[in-house]
Amino acid sequence: MADLSIDLAGIKSPNPFWLASAPPTNTGYQVQRAFEAGWGGAVWKTLGDPIINTSSRFAAVNFNGQRVAGFNNIELITDRPLDVNLKEIYETKKRFPNHAVVASLMVEPTQEKWHEIVKRVEDVGVDGLELNFGCPHGMAERGMGAASGQQPDLVEAQTYWVKEVATTPVIVKLTPNITDITVTARHAVKGGADAISLINTINSLAGVDIHSWNTIPHIGGKGAHGGYCGPAVKPIALNMVAECARHPEVTVPISGIGGISTWQDVVEFMLMGSTAIQVCTAAMHHGFRIVEEMIDGLNNYLDEKGLASVTELTGKSVSKYSNWGDLNLNYKVVARINEDNCINCNKCHIACEDTSHQCIDMLTNAEGKAILKVREEDCVGCNLCSIVCPAEGAIDMVEVDSGLPPMTWNERQRVVGSLSGSYSKAEVV
Ligand SMILES: Cc1cc2nc3c(=O)[nH]c(=O)nc-3n(C[C@H](O)[C@H](O)[C@H](O)COP(=O)(O)O)c2cc1C
Ligand code: SF4
Ligand code: SF4
Repeated sequence: MADLSIDLAGIKSPNPFWLASAPPTNTGYQVQRAFEAGWGGAVWKTLGDPIINTSSRFAAVNFNGQRVAGFNNIELITDRPLDVNLKEIYETKKRFPNHAVVASLMVEPTQEKWHEIVKRVEDVGVDGLELNFGCPHGMAERGMGAASGQQPDLVEAQTYWVKEVATTPVIVKLTPNITDITVTARHAVKGGADAISLINTINSLAGVDIHSWNTIPHIGGKGAHGGYCGPAVKPIALNMVAECARHPEVTVPISGIGGISTWQDVVEFMLMGSTAIQVCTAAMHHGFRIVEEMIDGLNNYLDEKGLASVTELTGKSVSKYSNWGDLNLNYKVVARINEDNCINCNKCHIACEDTSHQCIDMLTNAEGKAILKVREEDCVGCNLCSIVCPAEGAIDMVEVDSGLPPMTWNERQRVVGSLSGSYSKAEVV
């Protein structure tokens, strides 16, 4: 069995599965039960000046029968007094000395406030700090959370203030509500961050009730924007993690967050550069025990791959993530329909005919049966037909020789430029 233990910038944990700062990590009772269930670490529900939450604060987006495809919340940081949380953190750490207990923090963006809270939480024995620069609602309107996390200078300054007094590793949690997350990631590194975590939730409105015309959720007839998370955000989070992982100035380890609910998701986040991962929505949907399946699945996968340690996964796919301008334009795939598995639903023909390149012909075979055939010379390999096909194995996307040598867009532009004498350095990224 492989070694699942990890070390995120000096924070050690028996496995890479951490609960994200959120309702599952609200109390000592919960965190301790989570550790008993198998979670390796927990980022405590964000500490700061306790707030008052609204009643009615979560909503889910169900899609085509799948419950909680996305999850939306307008909850703020902890609503419990700091003293109570600190006492429970102390007790939890005492009971579980080998698990990672990280305190998530959010205060007003002043040096004094940061110094004060860092000292207080480190006194109770936390393994690390996570600075919540990501909460998109409520706190942001008061200059905290995403509001300060959207200003690279403030990310850097606040990280610096924390590092002035912190004795444990500092993780900066980034907001996705920004054009280029690598900018704030780089400023966190410049401020001295030991690691970054991403993503926090994405600005969202779960829906509008078309009968009452109220927002979902609504608080006595009024709503406000919330934060989106859960399986629906995974591709967005994975891209942001990958962009940070491949950026040469983002030199610190990453804790990946966003839509993770299976061991396969964990593997993907690790391959794209995460050292550890955090989960919120999946634990809220299915309970703490989903970690059991994650641990088993990851263990089996590592054994199958012949890997002795989970840490060997980290970053293995990062070099495969590139700029568009560096992709080979002469790589070619075409669709091939396998008659034996086709159920003649015609969905591929409609998709190609209406919205792609009109290259799936309706023919009749020697036995007089209607069949579909791809004109490979006209197929651009867009994948759409295979995406809409409901029958397993009915369409394969097959690599074919284009007869041309590899050539990227950027290489092409250089050649074109040198021929016309107007070489431009502009490249597509
Ligand atoms: C109800 C709720 C409350 C949350 N509260 C916090 C919080 O206090 N601090 C924080 O840093 N993130 C908070 N988050 C964000 C999560 O930690 C996490 O970044 C986000 O939900 C994405 O992960 P997921 O897709 O696994 O849910 C909260 C999320 C939810 C759903
Ligand atoms: S891959 Fe695209 S272009 Fe080719 S047959 Fe399918 S839908 Fe048409
Ligand atoms: S979508 Fe798939 S199953 Fe339907 S006709 Fe095309 S190949 Fe056959």
